[in-house]
Amino acid sequence: MIDDTTAHLPTGDALLTDAVFQGARTVGRFVDDSVPDALLRAVHDTVRWGPTAANSGPLRLLVVRSREARERLAVHMDEHNRERVLGAPVTLVVAADTDFHRHLPTLAPHAPTMGERLAGVPDVRAAMARDNAWLQTGYLVVGLRAVGLGVGPMTGMDAAGVDAEFFAGTGWHALAVLNVGWPDGEGTDRPRAPRLAWDEVAREV
Ligand SMILES: Cc1cc2nc3c(=O)[nH]c(=O)nc-3n(C[C@H](O)[C@H](O)[C@H](O)COP(=O)(O)O)c2cc1C
Repeated sequence: MIDDTTAHLPTGDALLTDAVFQGARTVGRFVDDSVPDALLRAVHDTVRWGPTAANSGPLRLLVVRSREARERLAVHMDEHNRERVLGAPVTLVVAADTDFHRHLPTLAPHAPTMGERLAGVPDVRAAMARDNAWLQTGYLVVGLRAVGLGVGPMTGMDAAGVDAEFFAGTGWHALAVLNVGWPDGEGTDRPRAPRLAWDEVAREV
């Protein structure tokens, strides 16, 4: 019998999955080089194709670069996260847009009445926005790593404070902050912690 378990894996010097998972750390130490807007756009152009429920795509991004913008953000971060926001080459606030349904006529032509139905149920929209924007945040982290960037995600912050500071009058709600840049070496001195194994996380029925 032919063992075809690896038949569909890409071949080459290194698997991309190694570069973005096993070989990548959560980065807190970056070199000084800047991260061009064009590269952030290119990464978004790729990861936006990751699937979301009803193709809702509720992830929104605030790019924080200037000293003034960093300081406005840093005051809402937990104390141990402040220096990281002030020091990273670029920081992205990832947010969920609870008004994502306004785009559904374009994004979900397969479900022509969904936008209207969701307009009347803000709680459902809020949950859907949060779930799917988090999903897209995962795609984004992997996409940034895939071009060699390092990412330091942080949720230790006053999210309501960030919303009031940057998103007043909109449906955007901050989920996390991603510090992004080129890693300095491994980008961290912390020893790698283990992960749960297949047998600990999976059951077969
Ligand atoms: C959603 C999320 C929130 C996090 N929040 C913080 C944070 O507020 N402060 C911090 O120092 N690290 C934070 N981390 C970093 C995690 O502790 C780190 O990703 C994890 O320990 C794995 O580290 P490794 O990738 O180096 O193995 C966060 C990571 C994620 C994915």
